Amino acid sequence: SATAPILVAIDGPAGSGKSSVSRAAATRLGFGILDTGAAYRALAWAALETGADLDAEPAVLELLGAWRFDITLRGEQRVTVVLPGASAPSDVTAAIREHAVSGQVSRVSQHPAVRDRLNDMFRAIVAGSGLPGVVIEGRDITTVVAPDAPVRILMTASPEVRAERRAGELSGVSREQVLADIIARDAKDTLVVDFMNPAPGVTLVDTSDLDFEQSIQAVIDVVQAAPSAA
Ligand code: DC
Repeated sequence: SATAPILVAIDGPAGSGKSSVSRAAATRLGFGILDTGAAYRALAWAALETGADLDAEPAVLELLGAWRFDITLRGEQRVTVVLPGASAPSDVTAAIREHAVSGQVSRVSQHPAVRDRLNDMFRAIVAGSGLPGVVIEGRDITTVVAPDAPVRILMTASPEVRAERRAGELSGVSREQVLADIIARDAKDTLVVDFMNPAPGVTLVDTSDLDFEQSIQAVIDVVQAAPSAA
């Protein structure tokens, strides 16, 4: 049987560089990348699409038992969902990034049993990947999903730097509005999991003063320093 992939667990808030840096680091390492936030987003999309009550844990659990979720771990990321009763998959890669979904995700991610079920799904995806390694990124990967990963990183940046980066990605939104949104979303998300402070044994990578390339290198350095990783 294939050996289990080497896991690189990365947590952090939006705008820390977590998603883009994790992706680039994974490519350089020859590893896959699992964006767990995409699964929470796809679940929120499916709940909205099927009219399930996002605030009702049993309703979201029922959806989880009946949908099919698929995400590509290499190359261009594609996310597909087969809704309950549907025969064909929907490509939700773009839809899950829209505000209609972003603004609703915390409603599904707040349910403990939903998180447990998704965490099992993440572990199964990684174990069945057939890849030499997988970078898995989210909010509770270093603490809950893969606390035994040989490499665990918490990526942060100051709120001001994060707002600056996000404002650069969005158009027609003021830096002040972006900063306010970031602080509000962090406050909501941290009620569920603490992704601002590194757990014991987790390496803090602060990208406030690092550019993209330096941030990638910082992750590679942590991986190469780990005795049982690359
Ligand atoms: O990283 P992101 O913005 O794509 O995450 C989308 C939402 O999912 C965000 O509100 C936090 C939540 N999330 C979570 O609760 N746990 C994870 N492991 C990943 C994301």
